[in-house]
Amino acid sequence: MSKQRVLSGVQPTGNLHIGNYLGAIRNWVEDQSNYDNFFCVVDLHAITVPHDPKILANNTYNTAALYLACGIDLEYSTIFVQSHVTAHTELTWLLNCITPLNWLERMIQFKEKAVKQGENVSVGLLDYPVLMAADILLYDADRVPVGEDQKQHLELTRDIAIRINDKFGSPDIPVLKLPNPLIRKEGARVMSLTDGTSKMSKSDPSDMSRINLLDSQELIQKKIKRCKTDPIKGLTFDVENRPECTNLLTLYSLFSGKSLEETAKECENMGWGQFKPILTEATIEALKPIQDRYQAIVNDKGYLDSVLREGCQKAETVANQTLLRVKNALGFLQK
Ligand code: TYM
Repeated sequence: MSKQRVLSGVQPTGNLHIGNYLGAIRNWVEDQSNYDNFFCVVDLHAITVPHDPKILANNTYNTAALYLACGIDLEYSTIFVQSHVTAHTELTWLLNCITPLNWLERMIQFKEKAVKQGENVSVGLLDYPVLMAADILLYDADRVPVGEDQKQHLELTRDIAIRINDKFGSPDIPVLKLPNPLIRKEGARVMSLTDGTSKMSKSDPSDMSRINLLDSQELIQKKIKRCKTDPIKGLTFDVENRPECTNLLTLYSLFSGKSLEETAKECENMGWGQFKPILTEATIEALKPIQDRYQAIVNDKGYLDSVLREGCQKAETVANQTLLRVKNALGFLQK
């Protein structure tokens, strides 16, 4: 039996942070040998908000290098750049024409990001989830490992696929495969270091709110030292009343590899002065191998180029077949 397919991606907008790692990339790595995996650097998504053309290509490269540094293994996985496979934009147009506008206007991330953009909201920002649906549906993905914030986009992807199948497929021969989100319980929503009630995010203006995967040891230490805590003695998991404490204990559990129970027991009588150094050490230890591998990979442009060229070829083969299937179902004249 052939392996099930996994697809996921990250936007190349600056530095990736530990939320991206714990919510998504770590899970891609852990399960990769059981699946046929496609991981893309979603550069087309990165231009849905104003971007700097001088750094887009470099960020795309660096993100691909980070995928490898985090442990993506080319024996099981294909890494490619979204804009290199033109089927993504072509399928997006086809899906656009069957997606009701009000489905997109309901998207929480659109509403949040639109507020931040003020007058400058592009059509692309509204259309962002349709492009994401195209990314997933082109690969007949069975599973899509993401953080909690992408759940609504995954539901929309399923709704779009159902609509295409209802309109243009037959009950026994669906046009598109319905994907399932894969959202782990722990790490699916890593919170900001400066506010335990909001998500750690690349777009937060304060760099102190997040730990980036490539932050130096000194910077990690400084960020944890200054992060928001609470004045209660003894550390406990309590999302409602102690969001910062819960977030930091979860990070410690994930980086040290200890279970939540072990963590709760170890830290129940600790104060922040005792806890922060052990969290700092666990974080630095966990990120060090990634940082070391990254430095080796990112300087080898020839190697990265060849990985992305090969990835593009593999991705195109699969994506073009699906695109043709959809175009045939929609009744286009064949070439
Ligand atoms: P992006 O680039 O915002 O984030 C990449 C991945 O990181 C997860 N994530 C988090 N997980 C836990 N805690 C956080 N604080 C946190 N912040 C981000 C996200 O859930 C995501 O899994 N639309 C997507 C990219 C995308 C995609 C796709 C994903 C485009 N096409 C197809 C899957 C399949 C995004 O903007 O992710």
